[in-house]
Amino acid sequence: MTVTEAVRQRISTRAFLDEPIPKAELADLLTIAQRSPSGGNLQPWQVIAVAGEAKEEIIAMAQRVLAADPMGPVPGDRPVYPDLKVIDPVYDVRRRRVGEMMYDKIGIPKEDRAARIQWFMHNYRFFGAPVGLFLIIDTRMGHGQWAHMGMYMQTIALLAEERGWGTCMQECWARMRVELHDHFKLDEHHMVYAGMALGIPDPNDPVNDLYADRAPLSEIVEFKGF
Ligand SMILES: Cc1cc2nc3c(=O)[nH]c(=O)nc-3n(C[C@H](O)[C@H](O)[C@H](O)COP(=O)(O)O)c2cc1C
Repeated sequence: MTVTEAVRQRISTRAFLDEPIPKAELADLLTIAQRSPSGGNLQPWQVIAVAGEAKEEIIAMAQRVLAADPMGPVPGDRPVYPDLKVIDPVYDVRRRRVGEMMYDKIGIPKEDRAARIQWFMHNYRFFGAPVGLFLIIDTRMGHGQWAHMGMYMQTIALLAEERGWGTCMQECWARMRVELHDHFKLDEHHMVYAGMALGIPDPNDPVNDLYADRAPLSEIVEFKGF
């Protein structure tokens, strides 16, 4: 598989087969992912990988914590999105569009809010993936290091593609930052940034047919001096 193929075929996988990922193979992937670049080679990322019982404990905790208010706010001062109402509307348009594309694929109309919420809760089961990764960052890091965390995550996702695995980055776990912080006994300076579901994609689940579109190059790139 070429890098181009991996980039082109990676999607957010939201349904997985019930097949384990061997620890040694995951460790191999994460060893290679360490080659991700970061300013000053800080490598400002840490990972907690959960499977089996450790994963089930988190799923149970999530169902308990979120039952009363599944779509409640993210605690703290690092929301998942900025206020999309006050910045260029293009971002909100893109966010809504991919949401509609996804619910179209799985056939849940806008009016059926209860079904949409129920489906969203699959996030908190890692969409059935055998492995959940939690990406941890030192809260004293600046915006640069948060960007480098993103590079690391994309490296993991592309290496997963090469192995026939799929991933879904999951910032939804931000909602449970306080509980996860306590659960993992993180020190006062560390926080869970996001999660990532990882496993073998279910080829028969229609949600995995979603191939989210992208803005044309003309909206993104300005070529000068060519
Ligand atoms: C940092 C990050 C967090 C994300 N969090 C979630 C999430 O919590 N749940 C989810 O279903 N998708 C999540 N996504 C997936 C995005 O919705 C997805 O990447 C985007 O719609 C483009 O689709 P694609 O990844 O299939 O190309 C996240 C993506 C990123 C990069």
